[in-house]
Amino acid sequence: MSMKIKFSPTRNSLLLSVLCIAPHLWTLQTLAQEYIPVETAGNALVLQADQHQDLKMIYFGKRLTSGNEYGQIPAAYRQSDDPTGIFNSAYTPSGSRNLVEPAITVTHADGNNSLDLRYVSHQSTKISDDISLLTILLKDPVYDFEVTLYYKSYYKEDVIEQWSAIRHKEKGNVILHKFASANLYLKGESYWLRQYHGDWAKEMEPEEARLTHGIKTLDTKLGARADLFQPPVFMVSLDHPAGEDEGRVLYGAMEWSGNFRFDLELDPTDNLRIIAGMNNYASPYTLAPNEEFTTPPFLYTWSDKGKGAASRQLQQWARNYRILDGKGSRLTLLNNWESTYFDFNETKLAELLKDTKKLGVDLFLLDDGWFANKYPRNDDHAGLGDWQENKSKLPNGIASLVKEAQNDGVKFGIWIEPEMVNPKSELYEQHPDWVIKQPKREEYYFRNQLVLDLTNPKVQDFVYGIVDGLFTKNPDLAYIKWDCNAVIYNAYSAFLKDQSHFYVDYVRGLYKVLEKIRAKYPKVPMMLCSGGGGRVDYGALKYFTEFWPSDNTDPLERIFIQWENSYFYPAITSSNHVTDWGKQPLKFRTDVAMMGKLGFDIVVSKLSPQDLEFCQNAVKTYNTVKQLVWQGDQYRLSDPVTSSVASVLYLDSVKTSGVIFNYLVNARYSAGSKLPIRLKGLDPAKKYHLTEINLYPGTGSPIDAGKVYTGDFLMNIGFNPQVRGGRASVVLKLDAL
Ligand code: GLA
Repeated sequence: MSMKIKFSPTRNSLLLSVLCIAPHLWTLQTLAQEYIPVETAGNALVLQADQHQDLKMIYFGKRLTSGNEYGQIPAAYRQSDDPTGIFNSAYTPSGSRNLVEPAITVTHADGNNSLDLRYVSHQSTKISDDISLLTILLKDPVYDFEVTLYYKSYYKEDVIEQWSAIRHKEKGNVILHKFASANLYLKGESYWLRQYHGDWAKEMEPEEARLTHGIKTLDTKLGARADLFQPPVFMVSLDHPAGEDEGRVLYGAMEWSGNFRFDLELDPTDNLRIIAGMNNYASPYTLAPNEEFTTPPFLYTWSDKGKGAASRQLQQWARNYRILDGKGSRLTLLNNWESTYFDFNETKLAELLKDTKKLGVDLFLLDDGWFANKYPRNDDHAGLGDWQENKSKLPNGIASLVKEAQNDGVKFGIWIEPEMVNPKSELYEQHPDWVIKQPKREEYYFRNQLVLDLTNPKVQDFVYGIVDGLFTKNPDLAYIKWDCNAVIYNAYSAFLKDQSHFYVDYVRGLYKVLEKIRAKYPKVPMMLCSGGGGRVDYGALKYFTEFWPSDNTDPLERIFIQWENSYFYPAITSSNHVTDWGKQPLKFRTDVAMMGKLGFDIVVSKLSPQDLEFCQNAVKTYNTVKQLVWQGDQYRLSDPVTSSVASVLYLDSVKTSGVIFNYLVNARYSAGSKLPIRLKGLDPAKKYHLTEINLYPGTGSPIDAGKVYTGDFLMNIGFNPQVRGGRASVVLKLDAL
């Protein structure tokens, strides 16, 4: 058997004829090796198409001054041999000579399971001054099957988004069993994984450990509310766990709001293979000839200056390119969830609208419980799906509340959970086929509810219609809190022919709805909520201005949750509400909520005059520092995990103004800030002074605002915020003279 395949590397336009004497036996003409660097301001990811057209990743790290030395990197290592030559494949196929975890696995139209992918060509396009897109075409020499790898790089931010597109022209369908977005390869002495797990009210709990040989998989199979137990972010440090300001570290995040999977494989040659993508669990995907299967991007950044720099890179990227209105403004608010739960009526809401104004925040957010009539939403057992105003609670509808809010000089926002349905609802009665459930099995509920089948275009229209209907009837509606409280049990779609497409198509359906909403309502702020932080990812944040990190608003807990989130997400995305959770005083709770987007969920009418005065002043103070928190560079100064004091600085880009939040996180006798806290990121030559702000009425500050310090002093010696029992939370404003 013989066949001819043309390879056309773009750079040297060399045509190569390949003679295949047997399906398993190749002779390949030797080609010049091709090096393909993806360079950003500080980093380089270098790929190599070798003489056999195997595409490999030979380097990811600090950018070298002289790019022509990249080719010398592989020879600098003296590791044991890789018998396959493709442990470092840039997109590892399976069923041919590969012996390690694949990025892609297929069954061809003829039933054969083998795949080989060889470099054909690449192309780099400049999208803007900052953004470039590298595409690399890989082809199977035997089957008419190809993959394009995409590397979208953001130069200034040192960030890469990587995904793949899979196509074929075989005589029949191909089944994709695994379909990763990216496949990376790192070399180090040892590898330290920082991963996260959680549950309701326990989001973002970190664990850090050395990776041993074999495969560590981080994944989720929950379908919706997919990150309840495991969020789609991680970091890997080389040689030792990276510090805040030193160490080599990779941050990774899947841009996907459903099942994801990260495989971290320490291979036989002691290098780390990372394979990231949608989870292939229960999802073999049938691909027709000429159809394209595009994976969601895997997002990553690299820093050789520790976790702080990596975070600032990612946060910068998120604000510049990802989060909806990332450079824009946000609304402060009063929410009624914890002050009323489901028990409210127009009179009560009228008072809350007045309280919103009294507090000085921008918006009132009406939470769960405003809808459904046949099965009224008076608790969480009924009504989800029936999005008509409840006539006994709101006889005059949302429209009258929006108007009343306007009369009071505040904006109005509303909670919805449009992907969900209670079995006790008219929607369930009318459209049982719209509900995800196994036809022959007993229903099983999460928070007494089920998930709607977003693979079905009719359901997509229904969900879109909920939002569109609200805005059409109430054009002045100013904010949406979009909740998603259930996982998917009994995954089955009455609409889909191929059930194994369910998990992938559910998320694609969700994105279709969100695309359509954003096409018509491009700017309306929306909070991404999921029974707390059960769905936080950069796939969804394209459509949302902010997310709800957790229902746990105990400020002590929040310090830790917000701290871990801050590695990956900028503060502007973090909706933080002052509530009655926890034992900390109101000031402590408010200070913590100010490290993001400030909101309140308290009974304003029950506040003491002093507490009310404090809250009103805090809103005013927040308005003076919010730009620093939202857009400033974040520096984590003192780690609550290892110290008694947590301290975080947000500094403007010209280093003239900042705000520092400091908290006591240890209740032991005499715990406090015994040592000065060293600031970061300042201009050493500038002179600064520090003023304590957000003081509780009637309390003074031991901080002398008249004292002047150089940036050099503050970064080398530091400043003591005098945090201790009785002064457990201290906010400092930093200003250059
Ligand atoms: C979820 C959210 C809460 C609240 C309730 C309403 O738990 O996280 O903030 O909106 O739903 O039922």
